[in-house]
Amino acid sequence: MAGQASQEIAAPLSETDIRSGIVTRRIGQVIHLFHVVDSTNDEAKALAVRGALEGTVVIADAQERGRGRMGRSWTSPPGVGVYLSVILRPAIQPHDAPSLTLLGAVAVAEAIEEVVGLAAGVKWPNDLIVRGRKVGGILGEVAAETSHLHYVVLGIGINVNQTEASFEGELRHTATSLRIEAGRSLDRTALIRSLCEALDRWYDRFLSEGPAPVLERLRRSCLTLGQRVVARSGDQQLCGLAVDLDDSGALLIQDANQRLHRLIAGDVTLTG
Ligand code: BTN
Repeated sequence: MAGQASQEIAAPLSETDIRSGIVTRRIGQVIHLFHVVDSTNDEAKALAVRGALEGTVVIADAQERGRGRMGRSWTSPPGVGVYLSVILRPAIQPHDAPSLTLLGAVAVAEAIEEVVGLAAGVKWPNDLIVRGRKVGGILGEVAAETSHLHYVVLGIGINVNQTEASFEGELRHTATSLRIEAGRSLDRTALIRSLCEALDRWYDRFLSEGPAPVLERLRRSCLTLGQRVVARSGDQQLCGLAVDLDDSGALLIQDANQRLHRLIAGDVTLTG
């Protein structure tokens, strides 16, 4: 080849490689791997409606309509990211489901630490942060009737081998990839295996002990606690100090009058 290759071609993921050596009880016993989908969350929801087994994992090399929280899109170019959704069917009340997003965040942080050796923090409730920039996120979607939860789909996106040039506009200042932070390109398959194992470990504990162990682990990695925040939920806005998580994983924010507010969902900006 003449000169430097200007464009690296990433090898597509292989189901055999992902399966090899993976040790889990539930997560990833069934894996659906796609070249490209609109959204792995949508594929997982369609499978869940058709009765797919708990722990079924949907992975894609690329997404054409990757979705983030609050109606945002999730840029999902081919071959460089992890785009993964898992179906869970815990016997819990629908109002307890948000703690599963926190479980996903803890699992992603552990997988990054194990495979890449970088410390990953969690900005409550779903952002994975490395050196101040977002490297991943979780989109939890619940199908439930009043008091019966049918299933939860946890969608996980991780920026793995993107270069600086991959991020445009505002993302240039707020997003990063594991490759940029580690200074080397990384094996997506190893990360997926480690992620499935971490999800399996924490989900096992969640089923036997409830959310407390997840929350205890999250407190150690949570970048939001102890910070001044602006929280937005619907058209409401609240400024205060993020003091703790309650037993269900809701964020407790103390306002200027020392009143405690419980935030179950929403967008939180750290202001220092
Ligand atoms: C966020 O930070 O707002 C959540 C991002 C979640 C992105 C993942 S990628 C796999 C799954 N499929 C989607 O369409 N979204 C999630």
